[in-house]
Amino acid sequence: MEQQRIDLLVHHIGELITMAGEVGPRTGSRMAEVPVVKGGAVAVRDGLVVAAGPEADVRAQIAGLPVVQELDAGGRLVTPGLIDPHTHLVHGGSREHELAMKLQGATYLEILAQGGGILSTVRATRSATEDALYAKAKRSLDTLLLQGVTTCEAKSGYGLTLEDELKQLRVTKRLNEAHPVELVSTFMGAHMVPEEYKGRSADYVKLVIREMLPEVKRLGLAEFCDVFCEHGVFSPAESEEILAAAKALGFGVKIHADEIEPLGGAELAGKLGCISAEHLLAATDAGFEAMRDAGVIAVCLPATSFNLRLKQHARARRMIELGLAVALSTDYNPGSSPTESIQLVMTLGCLNLGLTPEEVLTAVTVNAAHAIGRGDRVGSLEPGKQADLVIFDAANLAYVPYHFGINHVDTVVKGGKVVV
Ligand code: NIG
Ligand code: FE
Repeated sequence: MEQQRIDLLVHHIGELITMAGEVGPRTGSRMAEVPVVKGGAVAVRDGLVVAAGPEADVRAQIAGLPVVQELDAGGRLVTPGLIDPHTHLVHGGSREHELAMKLQGATYLEILAQGGGILSTVRATRSATEDALYAKAKRSLDTLLLQGVTTCEAKSGYGLTLEDELKQLRVTKRLNEAHPVELVSTFMGAHMVPEEYKGRSADYVKLVIREMLPEVKRLGLAEFCDVFCEHGVFSPAESEEILAAAKALGFGVKIHADEIEPLGGAELAGKLGCISAEHLLAATDAGFEAMRDAGVIAVCLPATSFNLRLKQHARARRMIELGLAVALSTDYNPGSSPTESIQLVMTLGCLNLGLTPEEVLTAVTVNAAHAIGRGDRVGSLEPGKQADLVIFDAANLAYVPYHFGINHVDTVVKGGKVVV
């Protein structure tokens, strides 16, 4: 019989935050309950956490077992690996020319209506080779990892033909196999009505439902389906039709809801039992209540409202007051949120959404994990969960969002291996 051993022991942790102790997402006031262990350690075997807690307890638990590798955290902060539950990772080109337009006062929907915005990224994505998309997305994924992200969702939605959507999804699959960051794939063929279907959105919806969804399912290239429900994009009725079809095929469903106008996207998320609803700046209390009652996680994207220069931000405090589980994400994409900085998102979560550092950490660990169906494996450091953790060059949690605009990550461990 193989001798029991410990593969990795992370010790001399000044402040250890395990996020352990709850099976589901953390809702309402429970988001702020984030105990800190002073003087902690984490023991790992076969990529999984064996013990995490006060160093003396962990050492007592593993007494007598050989330790293959020790990692001294230097008295600093350790948290679970961060989770980014909403990105548009794979795409061609960039849109820095939109900055000047924005400075002159053009809004997101105006740029989109002029054939820019998402549609310009669709052109760049269609004309890019799969390998070029791979190389570009890999650089972004490297940046996300350096930021402390160990699990990340990635949406298609810049192809908008069956072949070009599959091209994006194959890039996600290849990256997931080759890169330390674990990817969760979402099909978002209903991100926009492509130019060739202008004025014929019903025909495009049919294409998504009859051709794209079944083929993506057959090839096993995505676990979730997402729709951009917005004025001038997909109506609530079209969104419902697409998401209901996706559900019937066995996809989990998500929705970009009530970002700019209150169309009832949050209510629809509740009705359909979406795993998450995203943006939600214009969502009403009735929408929040529908989400809460159906267990839909609210994914707030404060870098997006910051970058779009919006006067208002998602009402995250109200969501928490009403008992929702809130997650935070970069929404990394070339238009509304060209950043891979989850740490900037954490700062904006505090400063623009009014969340505390504890609520923010819950939002980028446990709740983010549940928003992409990974709550049973990642998001907290407890026996049996994947050993994904970050050593921050910080003495405590609040220091990370406080000292903003820089990268505080020192070391990243993914599945028990030191990867940064
Ligand atoms: O989540 N809102 C829709 N989709 C993205 C933006 C995509 C783009 O502008 O290219 C978002 O913000
Ligand atoms: Fe998005």
